[in-house]
Amino acid sequence: MSEKIFQPARESHEIFEASRLTGDATLEDLESIRRRTSVYVYEAPVRLWHWVNALAITILCVTGYLIGRPLPTMQIAEATDQFVMGYIRFAHFAAAMILTVGFFGRIYWAFVGNTHARQMFYVPVFNRRFWKEMIFELRWYAFLEENPKKYVGHNPLAHVAMFTFITLGLTFMLVTGWALYAEGAGQGSLPDTAMGWVLGLVQNSQRLHTLHHLGMWAIVIFMIIHIYAAIREDIMSRQSMVSTMISGHRTFKDDRIE
Ligand code: HEM
Ligand code: HEM
Repeated sequence: MSEKIFQPARESHEIFEASRLTGDATLEDLESIRRRTSVYVYEAPVRLWHWVNALAITILCVTGYLIGRPLPTMQIAEATDQFVMGYIRFAHFAAAMILTVGFFGRIYWAFVGNTHARQMFYVPVFNRRFWKEMIFELRWYAFLEENPKKYVGHNPLAHVAMFTFITLGLTFMLVTGWALYAEGAGQGSLPDTAMGWVLGLVQNSQRLHTLHHLGMWAIVIFMIIHIYAAIREDIMSRQSMVSTMISGHRTFKDDRIE
């Protein structure tokens, strides 16, 4: 057996310095790690939201792209007998409504769920150690560091990405999306009362469409990097990744400190 496995037991606060100093681990988490068990990170509502949200966003991207760049006319029937764009828009709005309810549900869970359920909604901007660890993660992703670190929740780079593209990015998509919807729903409708002011703010509908459309590309870029990183980290990091978003448990591959 290698020496690495039989390191003497340490005080729990000495374990996972990075996780502790970036404020990402509770004392309970540290104790759990000391016992070499897994840490329960993502509770069921978070996991359910993750996959429903991922599916809704995928549908929104495909249908949104087709709304912005419609298919060529299909001469399969009389124009009045076709409803292709209608179905595409229906799928967009149905997914949008699921996304909206899901996002509010996720915000609610940030209040009633565990510590990790809150991580995505704030960035500890004044924690110098956090930014240092984020640079470290950037270097790790760029293959400039040899040994990865352990994190209980999101690593600092993932944390910043989640906050930027999901917390801020999805809010932007919801606001611009509902403002576009308000145009169709008409004056005095609920979407118009809630979001109609956005059209006044950006001044015209075309600009609102363009902003909403650009937002999609930002989310597409996030999705590509996110899925790559999840799989890459599952293979290369020292902890579980994809299964963590399925079971909720983060398991660690070794007992090494730091
Ligand atoms: C991640 C979320 C979303 C993505 C990626 C997305 C994507 C898009 C894209 C690319 C367009 C075409 C814009 C253009 O070029 O004209 C579009 C249109 C639209 N989206 Fe979204 N969208 C999202 C969320 C929403 C939400 C939450 C709503 C709220 C109901 C919404 C409502 C609309 C409406 C009303 C249109 C205009 C439809 C039309 O002009 O026929 N979207 N969306
Ligand atoms: C096959 C597709 C996907 C896989 C395998 C996957 C995997 C994962 C994993 C492993 C995590 C946890 C990362 C960590 O522990 O730091 C995670 C978190 C997350 N993913 Fe995905 N993901 C996928 C698709 C998506 C899509 C399409 C989106 C939305 C654009 C998305 C948004 C998120 C968000 C917001 C979190 C943070 C969850 C939270 O803290 O509440 N994921 N994903």
